[in-house]
Parts: sequence; structure tokens; C-alpha cells
Amino acid sequence: YWIKVFAPATIGNIGPGFDVLGMAVRGWGDTLYARATTQAGVFLSMGDNNYSLPTEPLKNTAGIAAAAVLEMLGERGGVELRLQKGIPAGSGLGSSAASACAAAFATNYLYGSKLSKDDLILAATKAEEVVSGSFFADNTSPCLLGGATLTRSCVPLDVTAIGHIDNLYVVLVKPELTVLTKDARDVLPKMIPMADFVANMANTALITVAFARNDYSLFARSLNDVVVEPVRAKLIKGFDAAKKAALEAGADGMTISGSGPAVFAITESLEKAEQIQKAIVGAFESAGVAANAIVT
Ligand code: HSE
Repeated sequence: YWIKVFAPATIGNIGPGFDVLGMAVRGWGDTLYARATTQAGVFLSMGDNNYSLPTEPLKNTAGIAAAAVLEMLGERGGVELRLQKGIPAGSGLGSSAASACAAAFATNYLYGSKLSKDDLILAATKAEEVVSGSFFADNTSPCLLGGATLTRSCVPLDVTAIGHIDNLYVVLVKPELTVLTKDARDVLPKMIPMADFVANMANTALITVAFARNDYSLFARSLNDVVVEPVRAKLIKGFDAAKKAALEAGADGMTISGSGPAVFAITESLEKAEQIQKAIVGAFESAGVAANAIVT
């Protein structure tokens, strides 16, 4: 029999919580169909919308994660995967993480759900590492746990689910630009002023409380990153104008999603969310950058 798994897009980092805080978004993600096979190995096919990703199982995060789970389970059988990408690759929306998490979850489910969520996060994060060269759990954790999560440490893995905020609308906008995570990390400062460290730590802590208490008003005043956003914004043409437009349209904050180029703004009003979306897309277009948006 076939099972169908949906894995959501994720924002990792949430602003000042660099490499630490991540969150899942509603209604946008990758869909995976999977079934167990008596033949050993991982068999992968992809839908038309595959963003030119490799379908060779051991070069695709879905295939690598499935193989890792089979190995952890000590299973002799295999899995057949049909991956329907919903999240564009290289966008800062956790595309590779979603495919890996869907495959890890599905494979474990098909073989009796013996592994824990932490095991699956580990398998999916290792799969991401093979493809991206870096080991970060700030997309895989919220993808598998839901809501917002805190990664205290990657090695050894230590992740905690925090909670969610009911009345939060996230306006996600993906400008048609390419920003490689490697380049986005190369621009990071090696040293930062103590005052900036304290400001980011304070805001990160308050975002954690906001999700733990399901309190939008706390998130509304803490989505502010004074360390990473200022240097990465330079890699995203139109970012400054888009942020200004978002705040003028009523957003309570806007920053970069993951390592970019996608950005996200927050509000508690659906009506405002639509205005904010128009404002951000319009600002990117005025800067000569096409952009797609979604409110979630
Ligand atoms: N937290 C990492 C970064 C993840 O922002 O560089 C990128 O997927």
C-alpha cells in the first residue's frame, strides 16, 4: 500500500534566533507518496515540478534520509518514493529539509514507527548535510515537530518543541534571486559588539516566550535581528525597500527566511497580511526583481 506524507516549508532562522529558532508554516510544502518494497534499496521518482533536483536517490535529500532510516532500523527491505516538490529549492524555505523529513517519516512509518522524532530529525539533518555541506537542524526540527522549535545543539542533537501562535499570519515572499547558503554564511561577521549580542539574545528569548505562551504581542515586538540581517540584506536586491514597504503597510516585523533570498513579515490581521504582501511584492518589482508570495 501507498502512504501520502505532507512536509511543510519552514523558516529557519526566525530572525535573531540565528541557527537556533525555526518554525513550520501552514499549507505549503512537499508531498511524498511512499510504499515499502521487498527489494532492498531506495527507489525515487519526482513530479514535473522538480526544480532540476537530482533523482538519483543518494544525491537527493529524500533518498538519503530514507536510506539512513532503513539503516537505523536495520531493515532488509526498501522503499519506493514519489516526491512532488511544492517548495522551490534554494529559497531559504527549507525545501531540502522538507523532502528529507517526509522521506524519513514515511520510511519509519512503513516499517512500524520504531524510531523517535529525534532519530528522524537526525536522519533528515544528515541528509541535508550530504547535499549542503552543513549540519543545521533549524529547518528539520520544526518540519518534524511542528510549530516553533529551538535547536540548542546540533552535535549532539538537542532540540525542543516550543509551541505555536494561533493568531499569527506569516507573509512569505520569494524574490526570483539566487542566494547560496555558503555565500550567506561567508558574509557573517567573525566578531560582534557586545550590545548587538545582548539585543539579539533578548529578542531570541522573547520569541521563545511568545511561542511558549501562544502570545502574538510578544512576537510582534521581538522580530528584530541586528547582527545577521544587516549583512545578509545586501545579498537580496530590493530588501531594504521591501522591508520599509512592509512596515508601512502594517507589518510588525520583517526579516530574511533562513539564509534567503525569501523574506517573511508578520501580522495578526489577515486583511493587513494581504496589504503587506502587495507592498513587499511591489517593492521588489520596483527594484527590478520578480517575486511570488503566499500568506500562511
Ligand atoms: N541557519 C542557517 C543559516 C540555515 O541561516 O545560515 C540555512 O538553511
